[in-house]
Amino acid sequence: MSAPLRLGIAGLGTVGIGVVKIIQFHADLIALRAGRPVQITAICARDRHKNRDADLSMYEWAEGARELAARDDIDVFVELIGGDEGVARDAIEIALATGKDVVTANKALLAMHGQALAETAEAAGRVIRFEAAVAGGIPVIKTITESMAGNRIRRVMGVMNGTCNYILTRMQSAGLPYDTVFEEARQLGYLEADPTLDVGGIDAGHKLSILAALAFGTQPAFDAVEIEGIERVSIDDINRAADMGYRIKLLGVAQMTARGLEQRMSPCLVPADSPLGQLEGGTNMVVIEGDAVGQIVLRGAGAGAGPTASAVMSDIVEIARGVRLPVFGQPAVTLARPQAARTAVPAAYYLRLMLADKPGALAKVATVLGDSGISIDRMRQYGHAAGEAPVLIVTHKTTPEAIDHAIEALPRTGVITGEPVELRIEEV
Ligand code: NAP
Ligand code: HSE
Repeated sequence: MSAPLRLGIAGLGTVGIGVVKIIQFHADLIALRAGRPVQITAICARDRHKNRDADLSMYEWAEGARELAARDDIDVFVELIGGDEGVARDAIEIALATGKDVVTANKALLAMHGQALAETAEAAGRVIRFEAAVAGGIPVIKTITESMAGNRIRRVMGVMNGTCNYILTRMQSAGLPYDTVFEEARQLGYLEADPTLDVGGIDAGHKLSILAALAFGTQPAFDAVEIEGIERVSIDDINRAADMGYRIKLLGVAQMTARGLEQRMSPCLVPADSPLGQLEGGTNMVVIEGDAVGQIVLRGAGAGAGPTASAVMSDIVEIARGVRLPVFGQPAVTLARPQAARTAVPAAYYLRLMLADKPGALAKVATVLGDSGISIDRMRQYGHAAGEAPVLIVTHKTTPEAIDHAIEALPRTGVITGEPVELRIEEV
C-alpha cells in the first residue's frame, strides 16, 4: 500500500469533529477505498482546551491555522473554519504556496475569492476540492463536474439553505408566523451566528454562484446574484399559495440565456406536488438539467456534522486516489467573467392584493394588469373582512418589467388598501 495521505485539519467545530470521527471510525474502509491510509497529522482550533467530544490526544496541536498550513509534514490542508476573509483565506493561500492540496467546506470564501484561489492553485499544480460547500452531504459538485461532464447544462436550481426551508415548512405545518418560527430556529441552533446569512438568502446565494460557475464554465460571480431573503414571506401568503396548489420556497435558479447568465435566489412558488414543493424541513434539493441526461434531482441533508463531513471525506479520498481535477471543472484561466442577464426570463406570477370591497374595484385592477400587458390565468377572492377583499391572481407568463409596471400603477387606482405582494412562480 502507498504512503499515507497526511492531513492538517484547521477548525474542530461541527464539521471538523465530524471529519475526525469518520477518519477514526472508518480508517480501514477508507484505506481500502483510497488505496492508502488517510491519517491526521496535526489539528488546530481557537481554544485548545475546549471539550470536543472526541479523542484528539494522538494528533499534534498547531498553534494557528497559518502555522498548520505551512507545516511540511502534511499533504492536504483541510480548512473547516469558515469566513470569506481573514484566517481561512490566509491559511489556504499559505497551504497552496507551500505545496499542499486543499479541502474546504467554505462556500463564502469560494463565492467571493474562488477564481483567484483557483488560478493560484492551478498555477502551483495544486487542487482545491469543496464538495461540502454546496448542499452539505449531497454530491452536487461531483455530479456536475464529473457525472455530467458530457452535457451542456441548461439550468441549475434548488433549495440550498436548510434553515430557510425549515422555517417556511414549519410556518405552513404549524400555522405560525415568521417571527415565531425564526425564534424557534434560533433556539434549535439552526441559524448561522449572523442569521441574515440564512434568512437574507446570502448563504444560499454563495452556493448558487458556485454551482453556476461549475455548470456554465464561468467565474463565480456572487455579486451578480439577485438575492431576496424570506423575511417578507407571510403565513397568509403561505396559506393562500397552498390554496392555489403551490408551496413557497427560497429557490435558487441559475440559467444561461441569450441575454446572459441569470442567477436568482428568492422566494418563489413551486407546484405543491413537485419534488421541490414536497421538500420538508431542513433538507436540501438540487435539480440540474443537462441536454443529454435530462433532469437530475438530488435530495439530502444540506448541513450537520455527519452529512457535511461525509462530503469532505469524499474530497479527501479523491485526492488520496490521485484524482486531480481543475477547481471549477475546467482550467481557471478559461473561465470567463459572466455577462449578467439584466432581466429574468418570463414566468407566471402570484399576486395578492387587498382591495376596497366596493363596486368596480376589481375592474380597475384588471384594467391596470391589462394596460401592463399582463393576462390573468386564475383568480380567487375570499376572506372578506372590514370592507376589504383579498384578491389572489395567478398570471399567465409575463415579464418582471410588466409586473413592476403593474405594481407601481396599482396604488393609483385608489382601490388598493395594502401593499401588493408579488411572487414569481417557477416552472420546475
Ligand atoms: P463551527 O462549528 O463554528 O466551527 C468552526 C471552527 O473553527 C471551530 O472549531 C473554531 O475553534 C475554529 N476557528 C475559528 N476561528 C479560528 C482561528 N482563527 N483559527 C483556528 N481555528 C479557528 O463551524 P462549522 O459549522 O463546523 O463550519 C465550518 C465550515 O463548514 C464553514 O465554512 C461552514 O460554512 C461550512 N459548512 C458548515 C456546515 C454545517 O452544517 N455546519 C455545512 C456546510 C458547510 P473553536 O472551536 O476553538 O472555537
Ligand atoms: N446555514 C446553512 C443551512 C448551513 O441552513 O443550510 C449549511 O450550509
